[in-house]
Order: sequence, then structure tokens, then C-alpha cells
Amino acid sequence: GLISKKTKTFGLILPDISNPFFPEMARGAEDEASKHGYNIILCNSDWQIEKEKMHLNLLQQKCVDGIILVGSRINEQYLSVLSKSATPIVLLDRTSALDIHSISTNNVLGAYLATKHLIDQGYQNIAHIAGPALSPSAQQRLAGYRKALVEHHRVFDLVLVTEGDYRIAGGTLAMQRLLRLATIPDAVFCANDLMAIGALEALQQAGVKVPEEIALVGYDGINLARYVNPKLTTIIQPTYQMGIMAVQLILETISSGQKNFKSIELDPILEIRESSLRRE
Ligand code: RIB
Repeated sequence: GLISKKTKTFGLILPDISNPFFPEMARGAEDEASKHGYNIILCNSDWQIEKEKMHLNLLQQKCVDGIILVGSRINEQYLSVLSKSATPIVLLDRTSALDIHSISTNNVLGAYLATKHLIDQGYQNIAHIAGPALSPSAQQRLAGYRKALVEHHRVFDLVLVTEGDYRIAGGTLAMQRLLRLATIPDAVFCANDLMAIGALEALQQAGVKVPEEIALVGYDGINLARYVNPKLTTIIQPTYQMGIMAVQLILETISSGQKNFKSIELDPILEIRESSLRRE
């Protein structure tokens, strides 16, 4: 019969290992992989499409048994080429209209919950520090923010939307821009926790009290968000579980040998902490 060569290795391509969201996901993937006797090769794309493609090629040359592609920005056309490769691929933290496995969370819902929470708490002028415009998750979170405002008869005003980079420094710069507006917001929903932590830094430097003067909500549920002062309200993603599920999906594909594509979408959860307490 045919002899198929197995390397017992999976490739994992992440955007940014220095963002605690991604190592949490990698932990899930590695724990599950090692249970089944597989190792993981980790690659960083620095949010760059060209680096993603380079890593994909290298991993395929090394004959890995499967590839998990996290937070990818590469286009559908290139993904369709990938989906035809012999190596099983799972998209994580992103969906696709193509025949390709994916595990993602409902970003529109998460952002909707965050924004609705601020509305319910009595905040009037809610700004958004968005993720990088090219990132699908950032676009979906902007849509969820907008949906909550519109449904509650608030004005969606682009002046209150400013772009960050999903990193701490970008959050600080974005918050400094919001503080220079003619009408300063009384609440800010940030598209991830690192930017919210950066925003908190800008607010503390400017002597603005959180949440008394400006409330903050983040997104991701990284551990660090519990240890800042005030503790950060956030949208929790099942990050570790997503890593586990990605490996399970690849293992299923390998053992069944059939292409039964699955697109799994999980729901995020709002965790209310001190940074968005009700306005007195
Ligand atoms: O913190 C990084 C963000 O980018 C996460 O929210 C993740 O969902 C990704 O898209």
C-alpha cells in the first residue's frame, strides 16, 4: 500500500507572540497536540501578509502534518489555493467563505455587547479605538459597535472612531487623539485589551480618572486585564479552547481523510469590572 510520511508536527502561524492573547491560544494548541504525540512549530507574521505566505511555504516544505493560521489577513484568492493543498489547514480567529476549516468567535456580537453595556451604564458619548483597518476582526468589531449605537438611537459619528494597531503603544496614541477632540468622549470601547491598557496609560498621564471621567472597555480577556488599576471590563474570548479545537479539527481531518469542512463560531462573553462602573 501507500506509505505516507508523517512528521508528527503542526505549524502554527501567529500574528504577534508578544500579545498575551496569542500565547494563550498557542498553549491550547500545544497541550492538545502533545496529548496526541505531535510537536508544534511556531511562526510570527507580525500582522504582515508577506510573512504569513513565507511561513506557509516553509512549513509545507518541512512537510508538517497540518497548519493552523491565526488572525490571517491574506485574501480569499490565495486562501483558495491553500485550501487545495494536501496539508490540512485550519483558520483560527477568522472565517472564510471558502471550503476551508475555520474556528472564530462572533466579533460583531462581542463588540455589540461591549457597546450596549456602556449605553446601559449611562454613558453618552462613546468612542471606539478600532483595530487595524485590514484586519477582519477589527472590521467586525467596528460593525458591532455601530450596530449597538444605531439600535439605541445614538449617532454613529466617525469623529469618535480612531484606528489603533492592536498593541499598547497604538492604544496610547489613539487615546491621546481622542483627548484632543472638541467634545471629549465619556467612554471608550477598545477593540482589544492591549490597546485599552495603552489608553489607560494615556488617561493616567493626562490626569483623567477612570471610570469617573472616562470609562473603558477592552476585548479578549487576557489575564493582564485583571491586574491593571482599575480592573478592565472586557469581552472574553474562549482563547485557550480555540487552540485546542483547532488541533482537534486537524486531527479529525487526518484520521478521517475526508474533507468535511467545518466552520465553527463561538460566542464571546461580557465580563464587567471596575473600568466601566455606572455613572453616578
Ligand atoms: O488582541 C489581538 C486581537 O486580534 C484579538 O482580539 C484577536 O481576536 C485578533 O483578531
